[in-house]
Order: sequence, then structure tokens, then C-alpha cells
Amino acid sequence: MTTRDSFSGRFGIIAAAAGSAIGLGNIWRFPYMCGQNGGGIFLLVYIACILIMGRPIMLAEFIIGRRAQSNAYRAFKILSPGKPWHLIGVLGIVTAFVILSFYSAVGGWTIEYIFRSVTATISSQPKEQFESFIGTSYQPLWYQFFFLCLSLGIVMMGVKKGIEKSTRILMPLLFILLIVLCIRSVTLPGASEGLMFLLKPDFSKLTGNSVLQAMGQAFFTLSLGMGCLITYGSYIKRNEDLAFTTSMTTGSDTLIAILASVVIFPAAAAFHIEPDSGPGLLFITLPGMFQQMPGGMIFSTCFFILVGIAALTSAISLLEVVVSFCVEEMHLRRGLATALVAVCVFMMGILCSLSLGLVPELKLFGMSIFDLMDFTSSTLFLPIGGFFISIYVGWILKKHITVREVIGNGAPKPIYLRIFFFLIRYIAPASILAVFISGLFRSS
Ligand code: TRP
Repeated sequence: MTTRDSFSGRFGIIAAAAGSAIGLGNIWRFPYMCGQNGGGIFLLVYIACILIMGRPIMLAEFIIGRRAQSNAYRAFKILSPGKPWHLIGVLGIVTAFVILSFYSAVGGWTIEYIFRSVTATISSQPKEQFESFIGTSYQPLWYQFFFLCLSLGIVMMGVKKGIEKSTRILMPLLFILLIVLCIRSVTLPGASEGLMFLLKPDFSKLTGNSVLQAMGQAFFTLSLGMGCLITYGSYIKRNEDLAFTTSMTTGSDTLIAILASVVIFPAAAAFHIEPDSGPGLLFITLPGMFQQMPGGMIFSTCFFILVGIAALTSAISLLEVVVSFCVEEMHLRRGLATALVAVCVFMMGILCSLSLGLVPELKLFGMSIFDLMDFTSSTLFLPIGGFFISIYVGWILKKHITVREVIGNGAPKPIYLRIFFFLIRYIAPASILAVFISGLFRSS
């Protein structure tokens, strides 16, 4: 028996869970999804998804992980031997590969923007600069490689040293910097239009497809549905309060996504950038703002460094799912497992990056490989995983086990438990199904 690495104390767990949750999903993906799906109304649906699906499913993942003390795949084998529930773990491992392949590409862009900020080579036409960077040069591949090497290094050093330390200080810093940038952004001339876009829901923009996207985003941003937080749950000590950890993680994650949007949309309006500009939105909107700020390049450097680190801590959590599987189930050495996984991810990542411009033929079902990886993982696999996790904890796992894990060493909280069971048994799975039906079959 090997002893499992564990997080030290309450803040360590929250830092690690928030480190996984807060990443490019909040700062890059949320604003561009929100921009493409009508602004305020997307924000509303997204918050609803966080509350009725995200929170309960996050708690469910922690419960499974801590109870089983193992990676996602083995957890189901331990808790329900002889049943096919461990397939959730298999789906999770596939999903981790798929997400990492495009995530590392965007992580690479962040690193490029750190260099551009330091060397003050962000052009006064950020849109053209971004498009030629991702569409006509092989540079993104180098940065993607570099990003993966960084994640690899941290994962090789092990959970506690690597993940915990990097998040403890840096997440609060990111938060403070975002507040400063919000203030700058909303005081730009013409900013109010962007703020209105975000805060005033336009119900006519509500379609089955946008609800589907919002649900996918809720899963993506909270790192749910693929066993990531099952694995993290296994590193949480017995006496920690899982419900509290869940609340802090979902709360801080949602806050960061909203702050990032309050930075991006007013700035986009001020610089006449369309909110539905797609995946480049972050990288074309903010450089314009930084250029007009006193000390802009310093802010820009700090911003992209912090976003890069947030992306790293999330990528690490994705790698960790696959690596802990290879180490614990296939008995590979940790170093070897990490390197193998990173090589596979990089090969898929190359396809994602090239599909954005250099090799436009890299298309399937009318989508670039990049979009396809993003769509299948976040919009399909994660909610499917989440659906089965909620069914598992709501209906299969013995109730007294769940109750014990939620209560921990503290006093019983009957109302809290009742709400949790109601959500995880009925509301979360039923809403996932309803959103799938309305998004996939009714609209296109
Ligand atoms: N949640 C992270 C973000 O917002 C990305 C991420 C990390 C993730 N681990 C995950 C997404 C597991 C889905 C599943 O950037």
C-alpha cells in the first residue's frame, strides 16, 4: 500500500480545488461564450446551471473521491465492484486528453502574450496581430510545447508541493489585479454599452443551443464531470468539511468569471470590438486597453503571467487525472507516465492548433478540430459524466455513506442535506437531460 499524498489543511484544499477550477475557462472561455450567446441572458442561465447542477455535482465528486481514497476509475470499482460504473472514469480519462489538447494551445497563446508584453511588441492593431499569430505561423506550437513542459514539470513533482504552493499566493493576486482592471475598463469612454450587454438579459437571445453552451461552460469552469474532483477529493483529509470547500470553490470561480467579463465587455465596447468575436476575444480586447493605460505594459505582463499560472494549475489537474490512473492502475513510474501523457496530448494539440488557420483542411463535421475538441468535451462529455455521477451519488451510493461524508466531524445539517439530495437525485439529472434535448434535438 502506498500512502496517498494529501493536501495540508483547509486552505490548502480550497486553494487546490480553486486552482483547478479557476483557469482559462473563466478568463478566456466564459467571456467569449457569453459574447457569442447574447451576453446577460447567458450569464443568467450559466449561474442557474452552477447552482442547480454545478454545486451538487461538485460535492458528489468530492464525496466519491474521499470515500474511495482513489482515482476516479478505481473509486467506482471500490465502491461498486462488478458494476460498470467505472466507465465514468474511462470517459473522464478520454475527456482529459481532449480538453488538454486545446487547453494547452490557449495556454501557449498566454505565454506568447507574456513575452509580447515584456518586450512591448503588442501592436496597435491587436486583432490583425492575433489572427496572424494563430493563423499563419508555427509559433503557437512552440508555446504550446512550452506550456505542456511547465505543466509536466509540476505534475512530476507531486501533488502537494506542486499544486498547492502555486495557488496559495497567486489566486488572490489574480483577483486583486482583475478588480483593478475592472475599474479601468468601466471608466473607459463608451464602456457602458458593454456593461449593459452583460447585465441586461435579452430574453429573445435564449435558444436551446445557448442553454446547452451555458451548461457545458458550467461544467468546464468547475472542472466537473470527468473525475478531476474525484481524484482531488481523495487527497482531502477525513475531517475537512466538503460542503464548505464546495461553496468556496464555486463562489470564487463564478466571481472570477464575472470579473473577467466586467473587464472584457466594457473594453470591447470602448474599442468597437464585437462581443461575438470568438476565441480571440480576450487576446484582442485587452491589449487595446493596456496600450491606453499608464504603465499598461506592466499591467499587461502581470495579467498574462497570472492568467498563465491559473491555466497551469488547471492543466495540472487535468494531467493529474490521467497520470494518477497510469501510476495506480498501470503501475508506471510517475515520471514516465507524465512524459507519455504529455507526448500524446501534444500530438493531438498540434492538430488543434494547426486547424485554426495553417491547415484549414483539418475539419470534421464542419468544425475545425479545435472547435470540435472543445465542443465534444465540454458540451457533451462533461455533462454526460456529470449526469451519471449525480445518478450514482443520488441513487446508487448508500445514503448513509453520503451523509457521513457531507457531515464529516461536524454537526448534522438536515436542511442542507435535504436540499442536496433533492438536487442531486432529481433536479440535476433532469435538467441535464432537458438541456440536452432542447439543445441537441430542437435547435441547430
Ligand atoms: N476548470 C478549468 C478552467 O476553468 C479547466 C479544467 C481543469 C477542467 N480541470 C478540468 C475542465 C476538468 C473540465 C474538467 O479553466
